[in-house]
Amino acid sequence: MIQDVVWSVSIILMGALAVVFMWVATGASVAIANYGPVIDTAYRARVWLFGLALVVLIGANYKTLGELPYINTLPKLPAAAVQPTQVVAEQWLWTITPSTFKVGQTAEFQVTSKDVNHGFALYDPEFRIVAEVQAMPGYTNVLRYTFKEPGTYQVLCLEYCGVAHHAMQTEIKVTE
Ligand code: CUA
Repeated sequence: MIQDVVWSVSIILMGALAVVFMWVATGASVAIANYGPVIDTAYRARVWLFGLALVVLIGANYKTLGELPYINTLPKLPAAAVQPTQVVAEQWLWTITPSTFKVGQTAEFQVTSKDVNHGFALYDPEFRIVAEVQAMPGYTNVLRYTFKEPGTYQVLCLEYCGVAHHAMQTEIKVTE
């Protein structure tokens, strides 16, 4: 998958950058060694602090990035309480099933994409944004929203996805 290629390229570039930093840092230690014991102590402390920061950084990244993509942890609700709603994004349209609801109804949007990343954004009848989630190929992101007022809700794309990104729009009808 393209994500794997991008990931590998990123790792290689970051590795190359790390090698350059190490090379520069090695040169710096030789130069600073000539400044006497005070600088020497400060320098040693800095090396330790840098090492500590590095360990914390790598640890934090390993812990957080390793869990991507985050598992949906929404609580399970009885089937009658939510209306499962399929949202499929593609260049450059939305397919939303069903697309009509009643006031008070909770839609459970199951959002995915057929091609690239899109941004699912729901706007109320006053055109205020009320819910938002990424539409990603290969994943289903779940978003719940309870409709509070009747009218025509707009769905727009909030992630640039190509030449017709601005035209990627559809409507949801909510009745009393
Ligand atoms: Cu789809 Cu922007």
